[in-house]
Amino acid sequence: MFEIAHKVHDESRQGEAFTPAMTTDDKQFNRRFYIESYGCSMNFSDSEIVASILFNEGFSATRHLHEADLILVNTCSIREKAEQTVRKRLTEFRKLKHQKPSLLIGVLGCMAERLKSKFLEEEKLVDLVVGPDAYRSLPGLIVDADDGQKGINVLLSREETYADISPVRLNSNGITAFVSIMRGCNNMCSFCVVPFTRGRERSRDPESIIKECSDLFNAGYREVTLLGQNVDSYYYNQAAATAPSVPQRGKVHTQPSLSGNTLMDNDTPKSGESALDNPPPEADRGAGFITFAMLLEMVAQISPQLRIRFSTSHPKDITDEVLFTMAKYNNICKYIHLPLQSGSNRILQLMNRSYTREWYISKVDRIREIMPGCGISADIIAGFCTETEEDHQETLRVMEYSKYDMSYMFFYSERPGTLAHRRYKDDIPEEIKKRRLQEIVDLQNKLSQQSNKEDLGKIFTVLIEGDSKKSNKDWMGRTSQNKVIVFPKSIHSLVPGSYVEVRVNHCTQATLLGEIV
Ligand code: 5AD
Ligand code: SF4
Repeated sequence: MFEIAHKVHDESRQGEAFTPAMTTDDKQFNRRFYIESYGCSMNFSDSEIVASILFNEGFSATRHLHEADLILVNTCSIREKAEQTVRKRLTEFRKLKHQKPSLLIGVLGCMAERLKSKFLEEEKLVDLVVGPDAYRSLPGLIVDADDGQKGINVLLSREETYADISPVRLNSNGITAFVSIMRGCNNMCSFCVVPFTRGRERSRDPESIIKECSDLFNAGYREVTLLGQNVDSYYYNQAAATAPSVPQRGKVHTQPSLSGNTLMDNDTPKSGESALDNPPPEADRGAGFITFAMLLEMVAQISPQLRIRFSTSHPKDITDEVLFTMAKYNNICKYIHLPLQSGSNRILQLMNRSYTREWYISKVDRIREIMPGCGISADIIAGFCTETEEDHQETLRVMEYSKYDMSYMFFYSERPGTLAHRRYKDDIPEEIKKRRLQEIVDLQNKLSQQSNKEDLGKIFTVLIEGDSKKSNKDWMGRTSQNKVIVFPKSIHSLVPGSYVEVRVNHCTQATLLGEIV
């Protein structure tokens, strides 16, 4: 109820069953799979890789459970609620298995990784348990499971990026697509299970990323979102990749990364310094490595008609080089998701976030200095271990300062095995967590409303994504700042994928309403 729908973890898409736009002759397929996805965009993107692997094995997709020979659930472990939802769903599948004993049921993703073989013991109906780095082994595991053996592969990899697999776009609007550029996370935020379920950071080779984005553009797509747990730490060492003894796919990051509570301010704005005193370093392509800023530039150059977004960033890694690259290209959307988590220095330290509130605020200032009008959103956690009322007030104050256009807000959910679980007591009573979360939600609603009101009268370039949810007489699109805008279809020549100038006339808290100018 308190988890607000958003692009990173879109509540409206949770449990979505996929149907691909199938162009291939259905007759060559002899079995059908059904896949449901939960959690972040990365999981939805992974399901498209899984679909591609299964298509090659002669499986076609169905969105009807009763037609399926194989049911897969791509799961999320980030909060307890996400796991409970999946467990409930698995008990529903149990009934189908009783009716059709040849049916195979598989659990994929973070929950598979976290619970490993425990899953097979606890949820007796599950035939397959496959972690996020082991999808290539699915065909072999299915053969084993057909023979009555339980199939499990939860090995994490330091190299797997699925770079060579062309995802099968599922439930696509044909205009916007996710492109995975790196996997895993080396940050050890104390509340977070992701480093344990998705393993170490590794970056996908830039050539395969550019090819995937170019192919999408040529197929009519007009927006790509570059995806990763921490996209700003994208780092690809081409020299190492071409050395004969080094595997070609996915490189383990070798750049120094922040750990513990060390603060680095190599790109923190200094007082009195203007954005233009600090131009972006020239892309250092000669040195054989590609940073996230360089990758952004390469994708931006595919076509000015292709919009680029990225998700998600860690505030410590979003450098001036990234900000200047964003400012340089019109087609790189002016929107940054900058997770805050807490506005209290004491809590940030316990969370192992490696920045202070002052550092975070100076990052917000820097974004606004280099890109006035850039949209900013945040993730916020209420009620982390030992959080006092004063800590909570500090979070509200940073929110007020940052004027987020929107936020993704959660109350703390202790996850087994995390640093916080091992070190601290989950000591904030649930009603206090929920009350604080409600105060955060209320403030965000006010900020979103204010942000939308400031857009009244302004004209934005909008990429049309399709019909509005409420009426096929209206288009729905997004501004560069990622705001949804709805407007009447007054010009007949427009289609999804067209860019159009729209003036904002009205707004609600969540949506802008406008007209074509
Ligand atoms: N409890 C609550 N929220 C969490 N998040 C990650 N782990 C937890 C947890 N244990 C939130 C963070 C993160 C977002 C993806 O999910 O805000 O940025
Ligand atoms: Fe989790 Fe922190 Fe990594 Fe985000 S940056 S995935 S919150 S450990």
